Formats: sequence, C-alpha cells, structure tokens
Amino acid sequence: MLVAITGTPGTGKSSACDVLARRGYVIVDLDNIARQEGLVVGRDEKRGTDEVDVDALREGLHIPAKVAFLKSHYSHRMDVNLAVVLRCRPSVLRARLEARGWPPEKVRENVEAEAIDVILQEAVARLPFVFEVDTTNRQPTETAEAILAILQGKTKGHEPGSVDWASEVLSWY
Ligand SMILES: Nc1ncnc2c1ncn2[C@@H]1O[C@H](COP(=O)(O)OP(=O)(O)O)[C@@H](O)[C@H]1O
Ligand SMILES: [Mg+2]
Repeated sequence: MLVAITGTPGTGKSSACDVLARRGYVIVDLDNIARQEGLVVGRDEKRGTDEVDVDALREGLHIPAKVAFLKSHYSHRMDVNLAVVLRCRPSVLRARLEARGWPPEKVRENVEAEAIDVILQEAVARLPFVFEVDTTNRQPTETAEAILAILQGKTKGHEPGSVDWASEVLSWY
C-alpha cells in the first residue's frame, strides 16, 4: 500500500509526515530520492525550486515496504494506491509561506495554485482514490490522525470537493 502525501508547498506535508515517522511509518521523501538518483534535471529559478524528472522517478521507483507514505508536491504522480491532498486556506497559506521568507512572486504563485485546486485536479485526473485533509485549523498530529483514519476507511468529509476556497477567492475581487 503506497500512499501519496501531496499538496501545495506549505500545506503541511513535512509536518504531518514527521508525526507519521515518529509513529514508525515508512516515509519516502521523493526529493531525496530524486537527488540520489540524479533525477534533478534543472533549476526553476523563477520558482526557486528543483525540477525533477517525475516520469523517470515513477518508472524507477521501487519501495520495499508493505506500507509507505510518499512525500512531495508531485507524489500523486507516482504509482500509488491512494493520494491524500493536504489543503490550506489561501490566506493562511500565504502567511505560512511568507514566514519562510519566500519572495512575493513565489508566495503568490503557490497561493493561487492552492486557491484553484491545481494538485487536487491533477490527482483526481489520474488516481481512483483521492482524499483531502484541510490543515488550516489542524495541528500536524491531527492531520496525521486524519490520514491514518482515511486508510481505515473513515473517508467521510474528505472526498474530493470537500475543500472549497471559492468564497475566499471571490472575496479577492
Ligand atoms: N497542521 C498545521 N497547522 C498549522 N501549521 C502547520 C500545520 N502543518 C504545518 N504547519 C506549518 O506550516 C508551515 C509549512 O509546513 P510544512 O510541513 O513544511 O509544509 P510542506 O512540507 O507541505 O511544504 C510550517 O511552518 C509548519 O509549522
Ligand atoms: Mg515539506
């Protein structure tokens, strides 16, 4: 059982996966694997991020574990059994990303991507099982617990579309 933990940067993937790791679950940091395998193919200077050859990573990926959580904002593009998309209210995400000291353009690009569900849409387009967890008012421990509950079938309230930032986005205009 491979579970993608995905979501816009700042939605809480690393924090939630740290909790899962402390509880003994296997966490695979795809950025680390990409670096080890020489699959960082460039640098996106505008975004200030590495460009990973995601298709080559997917084709070469072999995880020797019965259950593992794959962490990265492109983990939903791996051959996983299900994806959990972490979400964060755009106004709160903005504050989280500004706290990282990210430049305004990079903050804005990610806040906009979150607002229009980019990662959710990508995940739903290629995977049969996708769920959402809103981290806006959750502590990382609670996010981790929601993820584990989903794996136990407690998916109610986490269906794709359960998170909706439309009213906030409309308030921008
Ligand atoms: N569930 C949460 N509730 C509140 N703040 C959170 C939560 N998860 C993460 N954060 C904070 O948001 C920021 C981004 O979290 P991080 O786990 O690094 O996100 P990601 O790995 O998705 O980029 C960090 O400052 C973290 O402390
Ligand atoms: Mg992270």
